[in-house]
Amino acid sequence: MAGKVVKTAVVGLGTVGSIHAQWCATVPESRLVAVCDADERRAQEVARTYGVDFHSDYEAVLDRSDVDAVIIATPNHLHADIAIAAVRAGKHIAVEKPLCTTLEDAETMIAAVRESGVKAQYFENLCFSPAYHTAKEIVDRGGLGNIVFVRCCENSGTGGFGDTVLGLESVARVSGEAAVMSWLRDPVRAGGGMLLTTGCHSITYIYHLLGRPKPERVYAELVPDGARLEAAAYVTIRFSDGRVAWVDSSATHALGGFDDRAEIYGTRGTVFLDLYRSTGIKVFSQEGYGDIGQSAFALIPSETTNWSHPIVDERWSLGYEAELRHFLCCVRDDSDPSVTLDDGKLTLKIVLAAYEAGRTHKSVEMSEASTGR
Ligand SMILES: NC(=O)c1ccc[n+]([C@@H]2O[C@H](COP(=O)([O-])OP(=O)(O)OC[C@H]3O[C@@H](n4cnc5c(N)ncnc54)[C@H](O)[C@@H]3O)[C@@H](O)[C@H]2O)c1
Repeated sequence: MAGKVVKTAVVGLGTVGSIHAQWCATVPESRLVAVCDADERRAQEVARTYGVDFHSDYEAVLDRSDVDAVIIATPNHLHADIAIAAVRAGKHIAVEKPLCTTLEDAETMIAAVRESGVKAQYFENLCFSPAYHTAKEIVDRGGLGNIVFVRCCENSGTGGFGDTVLGLESVARVSGEAAVMSWLRDPVRAGGGMLLTTGCHSITYIYHLLGRPKPERVYAELVPDGARLEAAAYVTIRFSDGRVAWVDSSATHALGGFDDRAEIYGTRGTVFLDLYRSTGIKVFSQEGYGDIGQSAFALIPSETTNWSHPIVDERWSLGYEAELRHFLCCVRDDSDPSVTLDDGKLTLKIVLAAYEAGRTHKSVEMSEASTGR
């Protein structure tokens, strides 16, 4: 379909699905034709914004002959069923992180894609964040020499612990979206805690940055909370080429706001990345200025007094536009996405190995890692 615009639909229109819908309605490679959410009012509202059709059942989206590609942004436990049905209906798919909640589902998704020949991208936005992407380019050009260690974190910065599982209570209180976020507190629908929720970003980025080295060994310390979900995880990954990575993902520290950072250390240089604390604007306000509506993830009103750093371009700086355009170009030009469902599966495998390490207090050899929680 060279030169053609890809006709898109978004399934799941919450925090991140609404960002995808906006970009699908905006970028030149896409024409948004339909949106879908189990909450019909939500679907209707988004459809009205972009002047497109709405559905509350994803099967109706898959039945449409005018949909080429589906972006899947529902709660985690639904990714596999929707992706497999979409692929069997001949749709190209982009699947939000985490890929799914079990390795068996990951394998079924990958097999379905292989059989159908559609394009499938694992949506890990960090790989497309302009800053993170630039860091990879510098690494690939040898600008840092040989990379020996990478540290990557995404911390929610709400300070919640114990009574505030994943720190989401405070986010929900502020956004008024407690019901929307509630699935994240459910081990079945979420599939894991902070490590699967935010640590998976870091793991995929590190794997992508380092050129897909073989993970050899994983060790983790997990901070439990009351709902069998970890509120924090500190994970060491050793790759078979000797390189080491450290991932921390936490709702229990980083008071002061969302914290998305990476440090890349090579034999000849270093890169520091910081998406939320170095945003190009720093404000001092005695009064505070509340939620100025420019971040889906970062600011809560109490954090805008004294020194603060408003987020001015999150929908772009986090890579949402670039990952979508990459996917659409792959569909249009019949090329292969640079971040694949296999990368999502590998990420899940590392997360599950970290859960095993956290449970047993022993490092886990990846060749021997079990596949369940
Ligand atoms: N890449 C990122 O930065 C990023 C950020 C947030 C979330 N995510 C991922 O995106 C997915 C959605 O997370 P969220 O924070 O947007 O969640 P959310 O709770 O804000 O939104 C999920 C939406 O899916 C809808 N939904 C539930 N079941 C559905 C179904 N069967 N069919 C259609 N719609 C259905 C819900 O009504 C809700 O509107 C998750 O997998 C999450 O891990 C990624």
